Amino acid sequence: MKNIIQKDSMKTRKSIRTYTGEKISAIDKEKIINYLNNDENLVGINGNKIKIQFIEIGENISGSIGTYGIIKNAPAFLIVTSKNSRDIMLDCGYVFERFLLYLEQNGLGTCWLGGTFNRKKLNKDIKLSSGEIIPIISPVGYSSKKSSLSNKMIRTFAKSDSRINFDELFFNENFNHNIKDPDIREALEMLRLAPSASNKQPWRVLIDANGDAHFFIKRAPNYSGEKLGYDIQWLDIGISIAHYEIAFGCREFIVNASKIDNVPDSLEYVITAKK
Ligand SMILES: Cc1cc2nc3c(=O)[nH]c(=O)nc-3n(C[C@H](O)[C@H](O)[C@H](O)COP(=O)(O)O)c2cc1C
Repeated sequence: MKNIIQKDSMKTRKSIRTYTGEKISAIDKEKIINYLNNDENLVGINGNKIKIQFIEIGENISGSIGTYGIIKNAPAFLIVTSKNSRDIMLDCGYVFERFLLYLEQNGLGTCWLGGTFNRKKLNKDIKLSSGEIIPIISPVGYSSKKSSLSNKMIRTFAKSDSRINFDELFFNENFNHNIKDPDIREALEMLRLAPSASNKQPWRVLIDANGDAHFFIKRAPNYSGEKLGYDIQWLDIGISIAHYEIAFGCREFIVNASKIDNVPDSLEYVITAKK
């Protein structure tokens, strides 16, 4: 059985960039290892199994992981390795976010890192099979109460504490109508809190008359993330789907673009979550 993720973890999670430096306790290490040993936790909605390695600094890796001074005193890292396709990126986002929320509910801090780590060095330290990339890593450890200057700068730069207005993200039956139902609004707030690369929040969701939720991607024009060689915003969509699933308890996803009329040009259909 998949591990249960509590809704509250979506409310309390924030990117943690400064840690106490304390090693991961034996109990927490066991939780991490057990989670990663359960295949059900590693398979995304497209059926791809995502590989996640748990690496302790000074134990199974020599030296540190270069994060350009952005991550301070992290005792360990999680490294995601995968093949490079959109379907797989969506599953990476989904699987890894569920894991990070599980860690959050167990008192461990994390931070998605797609850009600010030394990928070249890590590509040498981690054995990659042919066609594999490292789309994402995350530090893991105990959050320091003190936030470093670089963390504050990144939060300001990425406007990490703000989110796009609810009514610009979520729509009822067509793209001109807002969602009125307070219960649906409350559940979608959980999706709005999801982390995204540079806090771009590329997801848009239309709930139709049957209550099915149609996910679209709104790409940021000229986004620097495009230079990474993989579709980082597709990870964001996987993250938003994980939040949606936890908030609504939905388990069935289908791809059927034909059902929705008058989709704005700036949006691309991704997937539908059945009620
Ligand atoms: C796919 C992805 C990639 C990210 N890459 C980085 C990164 O390279 N460096 C960094 O400091 N933060 C990175 N972040 C964290 C975002 O900046 C952060 O989630 C966003 O600003 C919202 O803040 P919050 O996570 O505290 O809610 C990334 C987040 C995601 C989802």
